[in-house]
Amino acid sequence: LIRNAKMSKVYLVGAGPGDPELLTLKAAKVLKRAEVILYDRLVSRQVLEQANPWAEQISVGKLCGQQQQTQQRILALLLHYARQGKTVVRLKGGDPLVFGRGAEEWLFLRQQGIEVEIVVGITSATAVPGLAGIPLTFRGLSSAFVVATGHCQDADEQDWSRLASVETLVILMGVGRREAIAQSLIAAGRAPKEPVAFIERGTTSEERVVLSTLSDVAQGKAMIECPAIFVVGEVVKLRESLTAETISSNAEMTQHRPSRVLS
Ligand SMILES: C[S@@+](CC[C@H](N)C(=O)[O-])C[C@H]1O[C@@H](n2cnc3c(N)ncnc32)[C@H](O)[C@@H]1O
Repeated sequence: LIRNAKMSKVYLVGAGPGDPELLTLKAAKVLKRAEVILYDRLVSRQVLEQANPWAEQISVGKLCGQQQQTQQRILALLLHYARQGKTVVRLKGGDPLVFGRGAEEWLFLRQQGIEVEIVVGITSATAVPGLAGIPLTFRGLSSAFVVATGHCQDADEQDWSRLASVETLVILMGVGRREAIAQSLIAAGRAPKEPVAFIERGTTSEERVVLSTLSDVAQGKAMIECPAIFVVGEVVKLRESLTAETISSNAEMTQHRPSRVLS
């Protein structure tokens, strides 16, 4: 059993933020060779369409409240297929090592004697705001950004007063707690009028951008659906100038971009 395990390999692959053109060349190559693909809920159908059509595709998306149980099942499945000597791809949204428990799976597989190859992906944390016209840094406006989770275990509450000193905040998994997060940031000294943006389903044809302010979010006035990236900072204001319609030869290029709805 141990000898078999040593011969097998699991590819821990980042699927990027949704648009299949944002897969890396390496990820596309590995997907074509995969025999088994265990994929997360955030992986788009268009990305899965790039894979070997004969590969067994297994959805292992997690539902709220079932995280632990599902994670155990994922580890068991990875081990099961790897020990059969199959080419296994563990496909995760964005980059597998950014809030995706990728490193936990990597560690587990190594402990079981399974070889792991990491194929990094384009993380939604930078790509989704960037493609929505919100650069995370800009000379004179923001010289630093932080990527934080808005979803913490109670015992491990995020310390927003510590993060509030960074000019641009990029919050993942923050939709459910957006009001409390905005209230905490205001309490920590951020201006209530500070602009914020939520980008839902970024880089896909269903992308929707909602612009608001910290105080409106704190008062429950922003209606947002998951998955979304929550950006706080003056850089949000750049979106208007960066995405204004141009009447130049760029028109042809903009037709190929996903439609963007602003509410
Ligand atoms: C568990 S984290 C995984 C992050 C992923 N590993 C990455 O690098 O992008 C899931 C969160 O990422 C964000 N997210 C991922 N893809 C997104 C997308 N296309 N549009 C908006 N938010 C996205 C959302 O905040 C979502 O709740």
